[in-house]
Amino acid sequence: MEKFAAVDVIRAKRDGGRLSGEQIAWVVDAYTRGAVAEEQMSALAMAVFLRGMDAGEIAAWTGAMIDSGERLALDVGRPTVDKHSTGGVGDKITLPLAPLVAACGAAVPQLSGRGLGHTGGTLDKLESIPGWRAALSAEEIVRQLREVGAVVCAATEGLAPADRKLYALRDVTGTVESIPLIASSIMSKKIAEGSSALVLDVKAGSGAFMKTEAQARELARTLVEIGTAHGVATTALLTGMDVPLGSAVGNAVEVAEAVEVLRGGGPADVVELTVALAKEMLALAGLPEADPARVLASGEAYETWCRMIRAQDGDPEAPLPKPRHVHVVTAERDGYLSVLDAYAVGIAAWRLGAGRARREEAVQHAAGILCLAKPGEAVSAGQPLLELHTDTPEAVPGALEALSGQVCIADTPVTPAPLILDTLRARP
Ligand code: URA
Repeated sequence: MEKFAAVDVIRAKRDGGRLSGEQIAWVVDAYTRGAVAEEQMSALAMAVFLRGMDAGEIAAWTGAMIDSGERLALDVGRPTVDKHSTGGVGDKITLPLAPLVAACGAAVPQLSGRGLGHTGGTLDKLESIPGWRAALSAEEIVRQLREVGAVVCAATEGLAPADRKLYALRDVTGTVESIPLIASSIMSKKIAEGSSALVLDVKAGSGAFMKTEAQARELARTLVEIGTAHGVATTALLTGMDVPLGSAVGNAVEVAEAVEVLRGGGPADVVELTVALAKEMLALAGLPEADPARVLASGEAYETWCRMIRAQDGDPEAPLPKPRHVHVVTAERDGYLSVLDAYAVGIAAWRLGAGRARREEAVQHAAGILCLAKPGEAVSAGQPLLELHTDTPEAVPGALEALSGQVCIADTPVTPAPLILDTLRARP
């Protein structure tokens, strides 16, 4: 005999009521076991989409999704801290950040996903390194955290299975874009991963999930509240995503750029965000005196990167895949680059083969885009602005169409928008 009737829970939310912790725990569990039907959960997801949930309901919903699966126990001899980004174009920050924070003394368990749509996936990027293996067992994750201090690998099947089922349903029922459902989905996976602290990079702009700063701020606030309610020290940075991050967008090109950063070079925006996130992570891990800018510049983080890649059978010294075809886009006139739209660059890279339209598709590891100039820079007619990389040259016209009107040159100098917009910390 079930504790509640699904239709009563649906009606309560449909009419704008507040669901109790017991109702939420039951409905998420019953859905995971198949006792609540797909059509009932889609009605409830739509009711939540339209009526929302308060902070207590969201914390309970997240807890129920965590309880649907296993929670990793990360007793690894160092404080654990993780980072999650809501996703953006050229966002390769995990690659330098995880070894950097490990080189500063914390342990970083980064359970990541693959790309879908215009934002790339961390695992797709790392798989361009010859030999590198994404799938690790829970024992391998713990061993690597003890020995190296950082692991970036595929999320194990047992983490928050309710979220996997519900996300697939939301995807086909128009209920993805709900802040309570997005926030509980993200945090259930991150909390189940077992880290004691979490820093979130919540992106706002054309290349992000949240297009406006106001939406991103609300998501960030909700994520921090959920972490706090579940005893995970959580901070969120609000960052701009109207322009791609760094110069490289794709797979192997992003790995190459991350390695430049780990060797003390690389684009200034990637370095700025990597160091800012590292500082927040180390503060939450109880290591506020660590100096990530110095560790990055010294090459110590690069050594940790090499150990992290080797631990997963990758060869950090092996050449990365090169594209069969490169198409260069040049400036039409003299002036100042004023717009380089992140969404357009993400779509163009995806069309070149860097991303996938369906989960089962393979990506081209050498495909992507190099942005040779960024907004604010002076450019002259004929100067190369973008390099389009692909193994399938027939993809170039589609990529150029995506970029049409989205790379603009102005007559007067423009000031680029700031990268870090705000920092949201849990209230004491
Ligand atoms: N990412 C997630 O993990 N879940 C969502 O609902 C949206 C983005």
